[in-house]
Amino acid sequence: MKASVMKPIRVGLLGIGTVGSGTFNVLRRNQEEIRRRAGRAIEVVMVADLDTERAKQMTGGSVEIVSDGRQVVSHPDIDIVIELIGGDGIARELVMTAIANGKHVVTANKALLAKHGTEIFRAAEEKGVMVAFEAAVAGGIPIIKALREGLTANRIQWIAGIINGTTNFILSEMRDKGLDFDVVLKQAQALGYAEADPTFDIEGVDAAHKATIMSAIAFGVPVQFDKAYVEGITKLSATDIRYAEQLGYRIKLLGIARRVSAGIELRVHPTLIPATRLIANVEGAMNAVLVQGDAVGATLYYGKGAGAEPTASAVIADLVDITRLATADPEHRVPYLAFQSNEMADTPILPMSEVTTSYYLRMRVADKPCVLADVTRILADASISIDAMLQKEAGEGETQTDLIILTHETKEKHADAAIAAIESLSTVAGKVSRIRLEHLG
Ligand code: NDP
Ligand code: HSE
Repeated sequence: MKASVMKPIRVGLLGIGTVGSGTFNVLRRNQEEIRRRAGRAIEVVMVADLDTERAKQMTGGSVEIVSDGRQVVSHPDIDIVIELIGGDGIARELVMTAIANGKHVVTANKALLAKHGTEIFRAAEEKGVMVAFEAAVAGGIPIIKALREGLTANRIQWIAGIINGTTNFILSEMRDKGLDFDVVLKQAQALGYAEADPTFDIEGVDAAHKATIMSAIAFGVPVQFDKAYVEGITKLSATDIRYAEQLGYRIKLLGIARRVSAGIELRVHPTLIPATRLIANVEGAMNAVLVQGDAVGATLYYGKGAGAEPTASAVIADLVDITRLATADPEHRVPYLAFQSNEMADTPILPMSEVTTSYYLRMRVADKPCVLADVTRILADASISIDAMLQKEAGEGETQTDLIILTHETKEKHADAAIAAIESLSTVAGKVSRIRLEHLG
């Protein structure tokens, strides 16, 4: 049927906050271009939000506004439900009901998919509906499309991404402007980057949700957020950021999913990256995802990872995809997690103790000749070889100094044992500061 004679596809929007309002505005502003691409018009006909007055102002009175999302997901005239409420409470209930009612779903909700994706995709498959989630990972960057379709020929080896705008913004502003953590976090919240609960951003949980989703698509395994290692940026000190720079590295919060012979590494933590890598120079709220495939080699995806319209760009891309495919036989659509659902692997997600990486170790040591020998002996006994070392001159009148060591790769459990032994030396004061290091070569 010609695009001009097909009925518009009808959309119900759940939540018209930052991303919901961006989606509504971009859809309205670019409606003609979008119609020409999708093959038919896409119309938002109903919006649910707790704040109905604000929703009316946002939409200019052009659509029906309700406070209860259940009215949207059960409305017989709605073809696609966009869930932009967030969290895995009411959002989960509404998504599951929408699917049960035969509606396609678009969501930006990585928390929901990382924790309940298996249940959601199974229900959607049974109902023959699509669940699309481009906006859930890296905001406006089409990384889901790239992993699921563009790189489909490849055996993906690893993914490493700066996938949380809030923390990258905080790290950049702290380094460049010397601003305090709390001040920059407030700015990120005001700019609409941060999650409703910003501890999800700063403690690495949001990045782990996204890394979990990417690991599933890259390796054909179920989403397993509970097995991810999660460490945020709250314990990172300005001293380590400074020493890292002196050694030629930048510290970024990385989400890493890597296939190794024993299983899959799935981890989020602050990471030293050589300053010469492109990804080390991704600043502010920008995101970047580096993907290593066996055929294509390394590819890098860069763009805005958060904010109203960048995220709306991804939400609307999903809307257009669904609009184009709504009449296609479900068997001929792209699988939710890239691999056919009956072809998922049970490759284990490895515990952190079995992960292999390099380390930056900083310790406060007595300014005595024997200390370095003691520390290096402990590392040698654990078969950990040293890549570089930096020993600061003790300040005037000081009896202690900083010793920084970069190691070659070792298993985390060997690093743990060596760090414990170093901390027990009488010449080492307090805890060893440990940050993982990846060359991303
Ligand atoms: P907001 O908090 O700005 O918007 C959520 C909206 O949902 C608010 O208007 C809220 O109303 C409304 N809401 C809450 N509960 C209900 C309910 N029971 N029924 C109807 N409406 C409800 O969040 P964002 O727009 O920032 O985020 C939405 C989703 O997008 C989340 O999953 C988030 O993780 C994801 N996301 C966000 C990005 C961003 O840059 N902000 C980027 C990528 C993904 P009220 O304000 O009155 O509570
Ligand atoms: N809070 C998230 C971030 C929003 O800062 O990246 C985008 O998912």
